Amino acid sequence: MRFGLFDSGVGGFTILKKVTSRSPNISLIYLADTKRLPYGIKKYNEIIEIAEEIAFWFSQQNIDGILVACNTTNAIALDVIKNKLDIPVFDLIGSASSIIQDSRVGVLATPSTVKTKAYTNAILNFKPKTFVIEQSCPEFVPLIEKNKIKSEEIRDVAIRYLKPLLKENIQSLILGCSHYPLIKPLLSSLLPSDVKLIDPAEALSLKLKLFIDSKNSLNTKKKYLVNSKFYVTSDPTNFANSAKYWLDVFPEVKLVSLQKKAWVS
Ligand code: DGL
Repeated sequence: MRFGLFDSGVGGFTILKKVTSRSPNISLIYLADTKRLPYGIKKYNEIIEIAEEIAFWFSQQNIDGILVACNTTNAIALDVIKNKLDIPVFDLIGSASSIIQDSRVGVLATPSTVKTKAYTNAILNFKPKTFVIEQSCPEFVPLIEKNKIKSEEIRDVAIRYLKPLLKENIQSLILGCSHYPLIKPLLSSLLPSDVKLIDPAEALSLKLKLFIDSKNSLNTKKKYLVNSKFYVTSDPTNFANSAKYWLDVFPEVKLVSLQKKAWVS
């Protein structure tokens, strides 16, 4: 079985890592729309258009399911992905929201995700009395993409973003952008030890594993990521270097261009 996975950039690595650790024999097609990164400050309509292009590209890749490894697209355009692709869709927001236990929850996410209140709505749907506070974090993704994950700058930014959430005595903190687990050590160091960090990729990868196991079709052992393919919309070398840093593999990364208005509806 082959699954598609997409993000604007390296954030999808956090999903890829969780998914391959739970389902080691999976083969993935990873699309990073590096040309248009960051997504998290884009307008609603732009994200919808991008989602249509991504769905069209994946419709030609012969995949059995798709992992929406980008919370911003998940928040704004999940229906686009679902409607355009007639295959199982695994999302982060729905998966994470369904496993929330605590009654005071913080969410860190991109400005575009926060605007939709998608996490608040999804959590309240499962657990109506939960207090949810969402914090928009525009500066994280550009700093993470530049690999400034150990800089003073990102630390100061993180302190500023966490302050309002800590004032509200949150018990759990959802990393509502797939880039943020890449700075988990920094965030943990700034949080009281009793605040649980929730990486939505955990819940997504569990759902995916259950799905794969139910199909029982991945029973031959293969090597880590040997079957996976990587595509970007700009600068393949930079992305391959990022994969080396985060995943310890140096994959072949191919350049693709996504098509506008490719759907005949
Ligand atoms: N990692 C994506 C997300 O989860 C996109 C971040 C961005 O490009 O701003 O929202």
